[in-house]
Amino acid sequence: MKTVETLSALRAEIKAAKNAGKRVGFVPTMGNLHEGHMILVDQAHRECDFVVASIFVNPLQFNDIDDLGRYPRTLTADQQHLVDRDCDLLFYPSVDEMYPEGQDNQSKVSVPVVSEGLCGASRPGHFDGVSTVVSKLFNMVMPDAAFFGEKDYQQLAVIRKMTHDLNMALDIVGVTTCREDNGLAMSSRNNYLSEEERAQAGHIWKELNRVIDGLKAGSKNFFDLIQQGKINLIKQGFKPDYLEIRNAQTLKPVTESDEQVVVLVAAILGKARLIDNIRVDLSA
Ligand code: PAJ
Repeated sequence: MKTVETLSALRAEIKAAKNAGKRVGFVPTMGNLHEGHMILVDQAHRECDFVVASIFVNPLQFNDIDDLGRYPRTLTADQQHLVDRDCDLLFYPSVDEMYPEGQDNQSKVSVPVVSEGLCGASRPGHFDGVSTVVSKLFNMVMPDAAFFGEKDYQQLAVIRKMTHDLNMALDIVGVTTCREDNGLAMSSRNNYLSEEERAQAGHIWKELNRVIDGLKAGSKNFFDLIQQGKINLIKQGFKPDYLEIRNAQTLKPVTESDEQVVVLVAAILGKARLIDNIRVDLSA
């Protein structure tokens, strides 16, 4: 696997792959790779002939400078993971390569409605940073398909709307969340948890499932389902940021007639802010 750090080197590699008639699959990441990232690479391999990953800790999407500073950077281990999963190319740009005119002077992409509320409410500017960097990366890599985890459900909805609204000619593929044995969604932020907290963190998955069970049993008392879930999370030592039931496509607050719904949660445990979700089809 080659690692390229400049846009010109990236373009040369992509051109060669496209000239050889290859379908290019792209997995954007911020590094500190774990199995949750690797299943995206695997899926890209199933659907494409040439798999490109990127590692870029995007300052534009961090609204907390300390959070940016402590984000784990583990390039050598990440490269090994990617080699093990037969990734063809790694794009590893510097901040200057991505934002040569400076971050404040960078044109921004902003996706309305789906980026509001949930993580958009507690992390102002976050999704503008995500949609801006992802649109730049798409223009740099020019992939036929790009792969994103359903773990970051709102992010995936933002990317889908952005590519649709801006007529970007690529497929967006969502990949099922990869979990630890206790249900905890894998995340680079799990590194901030102690062993004890890691075990405790499985309660997020349990609470999501409890809400889902209530919905499947026909409850339309969304408020009570959510209130009980929040109380349970607090009892387990979490500080819930949000626990909400939303329409799975629009991400608007759920209504009684919605069939495709998603339950989303963000909660703080120790030093980590954990997010997760479960989608459910209530027509079934
Ligand atoms: P990062 O947090 O590194 O995640 C990269 C991709 O891996 C995202 O699509 C995310 O949803 C997916 N992912 C992470 N954990 C996962 C899990 N347990 N199961 C399945 N997929 C998982 O998300 C970002 O980076 C950035 O915001 C980015 C899109 C790269 C833009 O900077």
